[in-house]
Amino acid sequence: MLFPEYRARRLRANNAFRKMICETTLTVNDLILPLFTINGKNVKNPIESMPGHFQLSMDNLKKTAREAYDLGIPAVMIFGIPDSKDALGTQAYAQNGVVQRAVKELKNALPDLAVLTDVCLCQYTDHGHCGMVEKNIIDNDSSLDLLARIAISHARAGADMVAPSDMMDGRVAEIREGLDDNGFSQVPIMSYAVKYCSAFYGPFRSAANSAPKFGDRRTYQMDPGNALEAIREATMDVEEGADIIMVKPALSYLDIICRLKDEIDLPIAAYSVSGEYAMIKAAEKMGWIDGTKVMMETLTSIKRAGADMILTYSALDAARLLNT
Ligand code: PBG
Repeated sequence: MLFPEYRARRLRANNAFRKMICETTLTVNDLILPLFTINGKNVKNPIESMPGHFQLSMDNLKKTAREAYDLGIPAVMIFGIPDSKDALGTQAYAQNGVVQRAVKELKNALPDLAVLTDVCLCQYTDHGHCGMVEKNIIDNDSSLDLLARIAISHARAGADMVAPSDMMDGRVAEIREGLDDNGFSQVPIMSYAVKYCSAFYGPFRSAANSAPKFGDRRTYQMDPGNALEAIREATMDVEEGADIIMVKPALSYLDIICRLKDEIDLPIAAYSVSGEYAMIKAAEKMGWIDGTKVMMETLTSIKRAGADMILTYSALDAARLLNT
């Protein structure tokens, strides 16, 4: 294919041709909207570093979820901000915890909107780590039972799918067994299987008040340079019974999404995280980029890399555009 016989520009010459050769189409079906919920009434605390996002009490959570549903977004992912924290993260699996109540209400109000829940301890533990702490070490095996308890409590509240984000080894198997033993064999697990130890989570941690009080998450989340390890992590979770494998963050890890799409025969989710959203919003505010175009380009590239679904704080904005 050499110039001048081949001219790449021929098929770019007009809108009709461009539509015909279009390889990647983003749709509303691809989007999952993460939402933060807090106890109280009529609460809508703005999250400064994530413009357009709020800590929402149940009434307002329902409004936003309805908006998502009306736009055709198939699912939301719920994160809870509890009233109190302790060493065992008990509010994470409390029957009347903030997430459990939110899930119940959402499912009552919007039965056809899929409600996914983040299963983790870091928002609920006083030390802010995703597992149990013993002598300043994040202990793997004693965390598993608690993680399973959280997942079961979410399923009991009516969650359609649970998504463990803690990165403890063996938690998918433990959660699968716990769900099955309690009559929830139909509840799928979306595993945050490949979760990097990333500075892109900064805005989320201030939104959810979940930053670790000592040390960092490097003994359980992955180093950014590792790719083979991503395959090992994903394979392990497939074997333990995961239904969907997630890569997180998305934009700096498109190669990982692409590799897993080839290697793993399960649907792949990508989480475009808080820092990715914040960067676009900040540059847009400065007038340095066209935020809307950058958002759509970003989402399209995540899909092109191989993601079957994208968790994104831009879901509402993107859906509005896709629907026009
Ligand atoms: C909890 C959790 C985190 C995110 C999702 N689940 C934070 C973390 O691992 O510190 C980050 C999401 C985002 O940045 O948008 N483990």
